[in-house]
Amino acid sequence: MAGSATKSEEERPIGPTGRPYNGFPTPPKLDAHGPARIIAMCNQKGGVGKTTSTINLAAALAHYGRRVLCVDFDPQGALSAGLGIATHEIPTIYDLLLDTKRDAHEVIVSTRVDGLDVIPANIDLSAAEVHLVNEVARETILSRVLRGVAHEYDVILIDCQPSLGLLTVNALTAAHGVIIPLECEFFALRGVALLVETIDKVRDRLNPSITLDGVLATMYDPRTLHSREVLERVVEAFGDDVLETVIGRTVKFPDASVSGLPITEFAPEHSAAQAYLRLARELVARGAVA
Ligand SMILES: Nc1ncnc2c1ncn2[C@@H]1O[C@H](COP(=O)(O)OP(=O)(O)OP(=O)(O)O)[C@@H](O)[C@H]1O
Ligand SMILES: [Mg+2]
Repeated sequence: MAGSATKSEEERPIGPTGRPYNGFPTPPKLDAHGPARIIAMCNQKGGVGKTTSTINLAAALAHYGRRVLCVDFDPQGALSAGLGIATHEIPTIYDLLLDTKRDAHEVIVSTRVDGLDVIPANIDLSAAEVHLVNEVARETILSRVLRGVAHEYDVILIDCQPSLGLLTVNALTAAHGVIIPLECEFFALRGVALLVETIDKVRDRLNPSITLDGVLATMYDPRTLHSREVLERVVEAFGDDVLETVIGRTVKFPDASVSGLPITEFAPEHSAAQAYLRLARELVARGAVA
């Protein structure tokens, strides 16, 4: 319509979650940094896009001038590898968990992305649960590790392993919020009730202020009825907690991982890079990130 600057809700196309499409405004520049809001990327189901989303959301937030720290909290070390970090024989999150007096700065690695740092992990972390199980306040160890560096970052993203064990409970205890990535596939919702129950228990006993920042639908393929039906069911279950930004299925992600770069650097014009940039804008608009 000539002359009208903004479209009314009715005129805007409907997005895949059933709400009118919102592009979300570019986040304002920050004059100062920290203290960080800590977000755990969590789902005990494997292969749902936790690591991919952590890497690319982190890079997207860094793109908007946020100082971002990613914590690789999975012994597979996929986040570290995806950001081009070789993890053998370097200090990792495991060393910080075992000695919380150790300075986290000795372990933090900067990446090729401006403003994005990582605490890496490697297979050593698989021994952590056994070592930590007899510690006093064993659920709060990661929280204590991050306390020393949180003031330097605007956001800390924790890439959880696919389990609800002690490491994940540590992540949920350290976090202000949790994002649940869900793959738009069969059984997407299977196990999510248990995850929500775990978050509720952590809120009850360890971390009263933890909030659900959002459910992130990943690997969505709008061409298949199945994908659309799964997303519909996810919206039925979680309502407005489902983030409006939905990540499409594309082979660009495996390609970007091999290159050791986030997709926002590997293929900045690609729709998947644009999706993670929009996700970053949405989280700022929702107040989940400064
Ligand atoms: N939107 C997407 N489209 C296509 N492939 C994707 C997408 N997101 C992730 N993948 C691919 O799916 C696989 C699993 O993704 P990812 O490693 O991010 O999941 P995860 O939840 O971290 O897995 P795990 O539970 O093993 O840690 C990877 O090979 C990744 O490249
Ligand atoms: Mg992973």
